[in-house]
Amino acid sequence: MKKKADVLLGLQWGDEGKGKIVDFLAPEYKIVARFQGGPNAGHTLEFDNKKFVLHTIPSGIFHPGSVNLVGNGVVVDPLILRKELQAIALPDDVIRERLLISRKAHLILPSHKVMDAALEHSKGKAKIGSTLKGIGPAYTDKVARSGLRVGNIEQDNFGDLYQKLKNTHFKMARNLGYAIEEALLDGLDFDTYEKKWFEGVDYIKNLKLVDSEVFVNQSLENQQTVLAEGAQGSLLDIDFGSYPFVTSSNTIAAGACIGLGIAPSATGRVFGIFKAYCTRVGSGPFPTELFDEDGEKLRNQGNEFGSTTGRPRRCGWLDLPALKYSVMLNGVTHLIMTKSDVLSGFDQIKVCTSYNHNGENIDYIPFEMAPEDIKPVYTTLKGWGDEPVRTDKFNALPGALRDYVTYIEDYLKVPVHIISTGPDRSQTIMR
Ligand code: GDP
Ligand code: IMO
Ligand code: MG
Repeated sequence: MKKKADVLLGLQWGDEGKGKIVDFLAPEYKIVARFQGGPNAGHTLEFDNKKFVLHTIPSGIFHPGSVNLVGNGVVVDPLILRKELQAIALPDDVIRERLLISRKAHLILPSHKVMDAALEHSKGKAKIGSTLKGIGPAYTDKVARSGLRVGNIEQDNFGDLYQKLKNTHFKMARNLGYAIEEALLDGLDFDTYEKKWFEGVDYIKNLKLVDSEVFVNQSLENQQTVLAEGAQGSLLDIDFGSYPFVTSSNTIAAGACIGLGIAPSATGRVFGIFKAYCTRVGSGPFPTELFDEDGEKLRNQGNEFGSTTGRPRRCGWLDLPALKYSVMLNGVTHLIMTKSDVLSGFDQIKVCTSYNHNGENIDYIPFEMAPEDIKPVYTTLKGWGDEPVRTDKFNALPGALRDYVTYIEDYLKVPVHIISTGPDRSQTIMR
């Protein structure tokens, strides 16, 4: 019987700690595969007093014997990928052994970043708060059947294809009233940036480019274990997130099938990861957002500043109706709760258990979550104050924290399998 691929993904608005947990679980898997998103993601790993932030590279890269696949559903910026590989400083032969890139993954061109900026600029106050990594425009070209893929860089006419697409983007950006000549990409003028991008293209030509759907399915046939690593979170999903304040890919479990070329029948466990509270970067509705000192305390204790952009993250209490919605969409079999240590110091903790939606009490996410139409209804739970949160075993955790976990399990009807109590790989409790 063919093995089934497990999936790990975020249940909130991203930054749930996916990188940390994938790195923790990676020794159980032969293959770790990213299936969507691109360098808008920032996955943080900490171990042995070292810290790495990965954007494109799957989070199993530090484990000898593990194969890390960038799947067809990912959008790849060669310049950023090259920088990432330089930052992790593994020898070239190790990288060639451990990293595979799908030929069918789409490329993010420098002019996709120009388009991202032009579109955000044209939206004014209604802007999405994009990371401006060119994600939306690259996926737009994919769906419009105009995109370029990693496999194209191996072809002789790549330069021509590139110029053609770039010219189209420039025309569109000018039509939006965007002054390309004045625009800077990561502080560089377009031509300088483009030159570096092409150096990135030359660099990734020397990585292992593969027909990834065949590789993954053959690996499953050969009884190899696969963990699919999501980016962003379910509430940023293009179909089910708070549209239009979403990212441009399917972040939910079904996205793993599309983004790796595996059948629904070939997926197994679904690990749904959430923070013990909520955060969001960028614009869009956030029912439990706090604007008071509790929100400030969460931001400071949780060090809630974006891994990719450094922007302060908006913070708020745990939103159970939103989590329930995500659990439903993903068919979560195992929950993982991170950042439980961040709730230390609170004598009382609030959790949202339903919404008052225009006077009606509901426990699901309605068509739109306009702040004026939706008011969270809270239950107050006992906090664990200054009782230390140990990192070794569940039974040694403060009683109020264990009760918090039980409360969440009762509401969501799915067991919490892992609890994270700090950013380091070692600060992880498996039940
Ligand atoms: P990802 O995008 O889901 O991988 O998450 P990010 O890396 O963007 O953000 C999570 C942040 O929280 C990172 O800085 C992690 O090092 C940190 N982190 C992860 N788990 C924990 C935890 O249990 N406690 C604390 N205090 N920090 C954590
Ligand atoms: P990880 O994988 C948190 C947010 C952006 C913005 C919206 C659209 O680290 O959890 P985009 O750049 O995709 O056009 O931005 O989505 N966003 C994230 N927020 N974590 C992420 O990834 C995110 N990737 C995108 O802030 O609101
Ligand atoms: Mg992140």
